[in-house]
Amino acid sequence: MTTTSLLVLILLLWATSHTIPALSTTPAYPSVPGTVTTDCSLSGKDELRPVRREVYGGGRIFDISHRYVPDMPVWESLGTGSDGLGQFLWLPKSIKNGSLANNSEMKLPTHTGTHVDAPGHVFDHYFDAGFDVDTLDLEVLNGPALLVDVPRDKNITAEVMKSLNIPRGVRRVLFRTLNTDRQLMFKKEYDTSYVGFMKDGAKWLVENTDIKLVGIDYLSVAAFDDLIPSHLVLLEGREIILVEALKLDDVPTGIYSVHCLPLRLLGAGGSPIRCILIK
Ligand SMILES: *[C@@H]1O[C@H](CO)[C@@H](O)[C@H](O)[C@H]1NC(C)=O
Ligand SMILES: *[C@@H]1O[C@H](CO)[C@@H](O)[C@H](O)[C@H]1NC(C)=O
Ligand SMILES: *[C@@H]1O[C@H](CO)[C@@H](O)[C@H](O)[C@H]1NC(C)=O
Repeated sequence: MTTTSLLVLILLLWATSHTIPALSTTPAYPSVPGTVTTDCSLSGKDELRPVRREVYGGGRIFDISHRYVPDMPVWESLGTGSDGLGQFLWLPKSIKNGSLANNSEMKLPTHTGTHVDAPGHVFDHYFDAGFDVDTLDLEVLNGPALLVDVPRDKNITAEVMKSLNIPRGVRRVLFRTLNTDRQLMFKKEYDTSYVGFMKDGAKWLVENTDIKLVGIDYLSVAAFDDLIPSHLVLLEGREIILVEALKLDDVPTGIYSVHCLPLRLLGAGGSPIRCILIK
């Protein structure tokens, strides 16, 4: 064997040993509850077990949407408060009961889990005029995006926004906060102490940046104390789109291509949304 082919072999072995763990995803992403811990090369041999992933394509594609589960937190006013979402999925037609196929049915508040807000969410005249989730601009929801960490000891104020130094021209930013460290989206109790935008932070963003897609890691982009004022500031211009309750655990900060697609729910002020980041 020549030195070159030996080198190629070593490189191949290295690549194999380094891509397989990334593909099976779980060892690299242990902090996401609900992730299967079995090595995918073993499953399937002895039992029929699907692999649930957070990362695809050998570490290139990150799923930043939360899985819908009965134990996920819901907005206080949407229902049961501390009991979480509860049952939202039923199986009215099943193979076991003589149907040709399993047909599930769901009932879900549109602002549950990872979701998007339309301008009509907080402006009644926009709602009446039809600014629903079907009118959101897919160009804003898809394109280059920056994932940043914000200081953990404050809500997002004007001062915090200023300190992030996000350059002009950056149009999509996902803000990772203390909410991710506290794993708030994995706790069924709704927690009002989450981090979000204060009104002055929202105002600073609107006036001093080119950001049109604002992503955050809990159910509301606005801090609870400034809930409506921050939403009003961000949505008034009908240019900024808010994506809430993103799953940003274990994703390195940096620049990605973000892809978010809401459902075309005519007349809805919000929609569940599937978002991914591609390296
Ligand atoms: C199909 O329905 C049966 C119940 O009849 C259920 O046990 C099974 O999990 C369902 N399969 C899928 C793929 O939903
Ligand atoms: C099948 O039908 C029975 C009787 O109507 C019901 O008790 C059971 O829950 C059904 N099972 C499924 C999986 O839908
Ligand atoms: C953010 O604001 C909420 C109230 O909206 C508060 O409970 C929480 O402690 C604040 N978080 C930080 C890190 O200052």
